[in-house]
Amino acid sequence: MVANVASASSFLVSLAAANQVLLERIGTATRQEPSGDLTVPQLLRLALERELGARELAARWMSACPELDAKLAFARQCGDEARHYGLIVHRLAELGDDLAGFDPLAAGFSPLFQYLATLETTVERAAAGPYTRESLAVVRNEAFIEFCEAQGDSQTADLYRSVIQPDERHHHQLGHRLLERYAVDPESQSRALAVSAQVLTLAEELQELARLKAGICRAPGC
Ligand SMILES: [Fe+2]
Ligand SMILES: [Fe+2]
Repeated sequence: MVANVASASSFLVSLAAANQVLLERIGTATRQEPSGDLTVPQLLRLALERELGARELAARWMSACPELDAKLAFARQCGDEARHYGLIVHRLAELGDDLAGFDPLAAGFSPLFQYLATLETTVERAAAGPYTRESLAVVRNEAFIEFCEAQGDSQTADLYRSVIQPDERHHHQLGHRLLERYAVDPESQSRALAVSAQVLTLAEELQELARLKAGICRAPGC
C-alpha cells in the first residue's frame, strides 16, 4: 500500500510536468490578439457551451463511476459548473445581452466533449476531465481575465478571478486526489498520461482552428 502511494505521487509529478509543457504552449497561443471586434460578451457566450459540457460530463460520470469518492467529486463539479453557467448568464444580462434566440448548444457539444464522453474508467475520466481539462480552464481563464481588464471590464474579470477560478482549481485538485488514489499501477498510469495528452492536443488544435476561422483568442473555459 505504501509502495502504491509513493508510486502514485511520483507518477503525478511526471503527469504535471508533461501537462505543463502543453499548457504553457496553449496559454501563449490564447494570448494572441483576438480579431479587432471581439468583445467580452461574445467570449462569455462561448464559455456557456463549455460550462454546459463540463456539467454534462460530470453528471454522466457521477452516475457511471462505481467509487463513492469519485461520485462525490463529480457531483461537486456538476453543481459548480451549473452555477458558473448561471453566473455567466447573469453577467451577460448586466452587459446588455439577454441571449434572446441564442442556443449555446446549437452546434452540439465540441469535439473535445465527444472525446471525453468515450472514456470509460475512473482513472481516465479523472485524468482527462477534472485533472487536465480543469487545469486548462484555469490557464485560459487567466488569459480571459487579462483581456477583460484590458477592455475595462473589471466586473467580469472579478467574477472569474474571485468565483470561477477558485472552483476550477478545486476541480483540478479533485482530479489530483482521485488519481492519487486510483492511478496506482503502470497500466492505469499510462492511460492517464495518454488521455491527458490527448485532451491538451485536441484543445490546442481546436483553439487554433477557432483563431484561424473566426479570430477567436482569449476565450474562457475549456
Ligand atoms: Fe466552470
Ligand atoms: Fe470546472
